[in-house]
Amino acid sequence: MSETARIILDGNEYELPVITGSEGEKAIDISKLRGMTGYITLDSGFKNTGSTKSAITFLDGEKGILRYRGYPIEQLAEKASFLEVAYLLIYAELPNKTQLDWFTDSITMHTLVHEDMRRFFEAFPTDSHPMGILSSMISSLSTFYPESQNPNRPFADIEMTIHRLIAKLPTLAAQAYKNNNGHPIMYPKNDLSYTENFLHMMFGLPSSNYEVDPVISDALNKLLILHADHEQNCSASTVRIVGSSQANLYSSISAGIAALWGPLHGGANQAVIEMLETIKNDGGDLQKWVDKAKDKTDSFRLMGFGHRVYKNFDPRAKIIKKAADDVLDKLGMDDPLIDIAKQLETVALQDEYFVKRGLYPNVDFYSGIIYRALGIPTDMFTVMFAIGRLPGWIAQWKEMMENGDPIGRPRQIYTGANNRDYVPVNERK
Ligand code: MLT
Repeated sequence: MSETARIILDGNEYELPVITGSEGEKAIDISKLRGMTGYITLDSGFKNTGSTKSAITFLDGEKGILRYRGYPIEQLAEKASFLEVAYLLIYAELPNKTQLDWFTDSITMHTLVHEDMRRFFEAFPTDSHPMGILSSMISSLSTFYPESQNPNRPFADIEMTIHRLIAKLPTLAAQAYKNNNGHPIMYPKNDLSYTENFLHMMFGLPSSNYEVDPVISDALNKLLILHADHEQNCSASTVRIVGSSQANLYSSISAGIAALWGPLHGGANQAVIEMLETIKNDGGDLQKWVDKAKDKTDSFRLMGFGHRVYKNFDPRAKIIKKAADDVLDKLGMDDPLIDIAKQLETVALQDEYFVKRGLYPNVDFYSGIIYRALGIPTDMFTVMFAIGRLPGWIAQWKEMMENGDPIGRPRQIYTGANNRDYVPVNERK
């Protein structure tokens, strides 16, 4: 017999179906609640509300578990390539050799962007934030490929759009960086891997033969994998709700980039470094800033600590922390910000105030440090998050379309003025 939940409203008893996921998670299905009772539910920020069923990513916030299509991220980060993980998220299975070669070749063949887009870059102010550039550029791709705008497009067109996005996002990201620095752009090279190509486009110069350091490209591969998806986070939910109106995939991803930009979401890794720079420029008195973070009357908060979902530790942070230590050791980095970060980490992991509140270093704390060690400029950190999260956004959008999810249109509880008549302006107080 299927499980149900009973509620009593205005003296009437109602039964609502309970659904159970493949990992034993349970939900009360309220899709018919308003029709049955006239009531809706209210859950600001959706902390207790599921927006969909999904087979893409499973996470357990209490146990610190994160799996993509059932595969633990610890194994994928250690053994897979980013394009393998992108294929897994989008097509639901790890690719065999033939499939991986096909996918890799298709991505490689679409890394160039239309030369007309160079004029867009020239129009941006030189100090434009690359996330603002990227969100605009990705949305404008829909104008270069108008067939992507057809809501009844065949899957072959959707698949081409998916491959174009994965291929072109790093190219556009690197061009945004080069444009802001007044450097000549570097075109993609087809004989390089996905991460090597990005590093080449970012740090290569026509006048020099830039050699990609395998330590850096390996670390970047791991970082992109660890950011590839995270179920119904703010930006993935944004991609889904924009796509639910049958807006094209480029526009949906552009909206996801905009949502990720926020310092409470993907912008947190940039905010971590800015916080460390503030502490360093203030003389490096760590205890002063830790006390400020504890002081309720002080607006200062530690960035990169704690998480909405993970209550004890962020499994990605554990992997990135080790990768950061390896990279710093191998590159022999000596960076005062990283010293401050390590001292801050020690305090946060030992101080009862932070331990009791679950304010442990999260994925953004360590990713900011490792991106800095890899030579990625601070205002490009969230761009790196976007490049990693792109396959997850695509997989979420594709699942929403394949499941035929309805247009997202939440209800509300109105708390404004009651009915009143218009008063001519000369009669108003
Ligand atoms: C993410 O990976 O998207 C962030 O940890 C935020 C989240 O999941 O809410």
